[in-house]
Amino acid sequence: MSNAALCVTSDILFRTLRFRVFGTVYTMTLKLKRTPGLYLVGFMASGKTTIARKLADELGWCFIDLDSEIEETHRKTISQIFLEDGESTFREIETKTLRRHVLEIEAGKPCVVALGGGAFVQSKNWELIENNGVTVWLDCPFEIILRRLGDDTTRPLATDRGKLSEIFEDRRPLYARADFRIFVDTDDVSAIVRQILNLPIF
Ligand code: S3P
Repeated sequence: MSNAALCVTSDILFRTLRFRVFGTVYTMTLKLKRTPGLYLVGFMASGKTTIARKLADELGWCFIDLDSEIEETHRKTISQIFLEDGESTFREIETKTLRRHVLEIEAGKPCVVALGGGAFVQSKNWELIENNGVTVWLDCPFEIILRRLGDDTTRPLATDRGKLSEIFEDRRPLYARADFRIFVDTDDVSAIVRQILNLPIF
């Protein structure tokens, strides 16, 4: 291939590699190429599980929902774990579960992972995935979150709605550490999945 046919540029900010072959521009995230994990992060009820499942289906990748897996492994609901063992035990379990999947992904198993709303805000979890795939923040407005939560009682940190808005604000700068942000102002799952598939990472 001649030099005229192949032109490579890199973008440190988005950690992408852009290359042109015979006039066609290809973009690829080096992180995703090295370790094929897509991690969806964001607040409770922002759609992480539903969107991750559909995205995994479209990509033909495996789908992992961290919370469901924790519930299955421990044969307890998240609420029960919070109530009987405390939040700190839940966070330890969450990190262990995440670490196990990061290792599998690193070994070459492509997966879309839906994290629990508090997982990405824990520094050790963020450090685990920062260089092990691509993170996408589903940034959903608080009003939509409240509507979706309705009178849901399965999320221990959502029972006090006043506190919930504080947690929402506190966490925003931490979610913003994700590689990409998708604004979720719709309940249309396919539309959000399309936006993710259009990110310059595949
Ligand atoms: C939590 C979010 C929940 C679950 C747990 C704690 C949080 O997951 O992990 O209740 O700290 O925001 P979802 O985001 O799937 O509701």
